[in-house]
Amino acid sequence: MLTNRIVQIKILRYRGAVKRDKIHDFYFHKAKREKYSARSVYKLQNIQEKYHLISTGNRVLDLGAAPGSWTEYLLSVLGSRGYLIALDQQPLSITAQEKIKKSGIDFTFLQQSVMDPLPPDTKVFDVIVSDMAPFTQGNRAVDCAGSLELIQRAFEIAKEHLKQGGHLVVKLFQSEDTVKFSKEFGKLFKFSKFYRPPAVHKDSKEMYFVGQNFKLE
Ligand SMILES: C[S@@+](CC[C@H](N)C(=O)[O-])C[C@H]1O[C@@H](n2cnc3c(N)ncnc32)[C@H](O)[C@@H]1O
Repeated sequence: MLTNRIVQIKILRYRGAVKRDKIHDFYFHKAKREKYSARSVYKLQNIQEKYHLISTGNRVLDLGAAPGSWTEYLLSVLGSRGYLIALDQQPLSITAQEKIKKSGIDFTFLQQSVMDPLPPDTKVFDVIVSDMAPFTQGNRAVDCAGSLELIQRAFEIAKEHLKQGGHLVVKLFQSEDTVKFSKEFGKLFKFSKFYRPPAVHKDSKEMYFVGQNFKLE
């Protein structure tokens, strides 16, 4: 009971913060006009325009997918021959679900925590993207620890499910620990860097780890 209440409070706080962010935001209005489920879509678009990680027909895993704007963008890049798995504890928006249906793509939605095991038949991917973010508590140390836990899990999944030569994108909240951990993990790629897309909110500590050409150990 108490745990449910705490989760509910966290969700309300998260939604409150998201609502405040939306006011007078250029990318929020652009996403509305272009019928995307969230303004986050432009961060992935910025990353793709800079690094060209995703190609038509790729197999992609989208972690922390809800409400679904990255999924919607991925559909437009992959085309109907691609294969896409999206994962989130929360459901995808109706808009995203409709776009998925129309696309004809081979698609699976896993509504679960990323901490739970992936289905045993989950294969390897050309690209894995993670836009997961913890429900922020307003306490920097706690929020950074939450972010670190999610990126560690994203990296663990990449180690198991990214193909040789594959690419990885992981959102992180900048802290000494997250940067140190990501740099260490970056050694498993031919190229790795941190990138802050122009669409990231100016007050945000958010940035993305981009790993290109995964080298299987
Ligand atoms: C910023 S949102 C992602 C936005 C999404 N990329 C889009 O474009 O619509 C962060 C997401 O991470 C998800 N998340 C946080 N912790 C998670 C966990 N342990 N397992 C799965 N998803 C998680 C949240 O439910 C939330 O939907």
